[in-house]
Amino acid sequence: MAQASHLKLDEQSLITSQLVKKHTTTSDVADSTELKEKVAQLALVLDLARQGFESGTPAADIVDRLAARLHDLRNQASPVVWQQLIPLAQEHPVSEFLKQDPFTRWSFDKPRGYSGDASLLDIYYKHPSADEIVASSTELGREIYAYTSEAASSVAGRERRDILARTVDATAERVENAEVLAIACGHLREAELSTALAGKKLKRWIGLDQDPISVGTVNRDLAGTGVEAIDGSVKGILRRSYSLGTFDLVYASGLYDYLPRAVAIRLTQRAMELVKPGGEFLFANFSDEITTDGYMETFMDWPLILRADKDMQDIIDRAIDRNHAETEVFYGSNRNIVYGVIRKHTA
Ligand SMILES: C[S@@+](CC[C@H](N)C(=O)[O-])C[C@H]1O[C@@H](n2cnc3c(N)ncnc32)[C@H](O)[C@@H]1O
Repeated sequence: MAQASHLKLDEQSLITSQLVKKHTTTSDVADSTELKEKVAQLALVLDLARQGFESGTPAADIVDRLAARLHDLRNQASPVVWQQLIPLAQEHPVSEFLKQDPFTRWSFDKPRGYSGDASLLDIYYKHPSADEIVASSTELGREIYAYTSEAASSVAGRERRDILARTVDATAERVENAEVLAIACGHLREAELSTALAGKKLKRWIGLDQDPISVGTVNRDLAGTGVEAIDGSVKGILRRSYSLGTFDLVYASGLYDYLPRAVAIRLTQRAMELVKPGGEFLFANFSDEITTDGYMETFMDWPLILRADKDMQDIIDRAIDRNHAETEVFYGSNRNIVYGVIRKHTA
């Protein structure tokens, strides 16, 4: 994956679309002929979608075609031209229809001030805490949501949550009194699916997140279970600012998608320092095979750094000494998310 060497982690460790855009934007100037051509294509795509809404075409058909066409346009356009198309799409009147979808609207509006917050994930996890947001949307909004929440990337996100819970449970099978750390834990919804947590098989499950609202939510919703969430950032981990001890399992989900390669490598190195001998580190990333990328970057204003298996392997290879660990890279069932695992040898 292309990498600008000047990229640094943002000051407050907050994910902003600006940070991710910086990762993908080149200093190239748009070719005016290409720009004109792509602006015309985009206008056609968006007008077709608007006409579809106005004539009562089923929302799923409209958004499905729109997302596929935006994906194609994103692939065909040079990165610099695509960046110029994004605000044009966002300003097009069709966005007023699309923003009736609670998922699209929350992502675009960013009530917590950054992209990909844990309440956004609750919306596509179909978590009960998001029921009210969905129920209070318009009929068209709920119709669009029925499509966007079942898009392959949403299905993959829910599977990721299942994989995390299964990995925690497998760790508890492997080690008595297992200790687990979730970096960028969000609302730690996987905890609700863990049989090990329900069976009180874990010594501790620490969640770390930069968002105090998410930390408070975890500590409220999972009070008395052995889970503890703490305020902390990637930056703090990189600086070894926290005395966390070591863990049988450390994982990060929904985080690497925002981290440029150099930061991803350094975080992987630090994460491995927190893993006990015989323990493992798991990290997930949306893959470059997703087809919702164009829709997410425009109407959801939610850019991600997408990676392939080779990019995950590259991060691992740069971060660790292969003599001290086993590694694995695998795709989830619909290949929309790719996972990296590093298992530390016993001492
Ligand atoms: C997409 S959510 C993922 C939440 C959860 N891990 C999951 O998979 O459902 C991303 C989370 O990363 C947190 N986050 C983003 N940047 C961070 C950083 N630099 N340090 C710590 N947490 C961060 C956000 O606050 C948010 O809760």
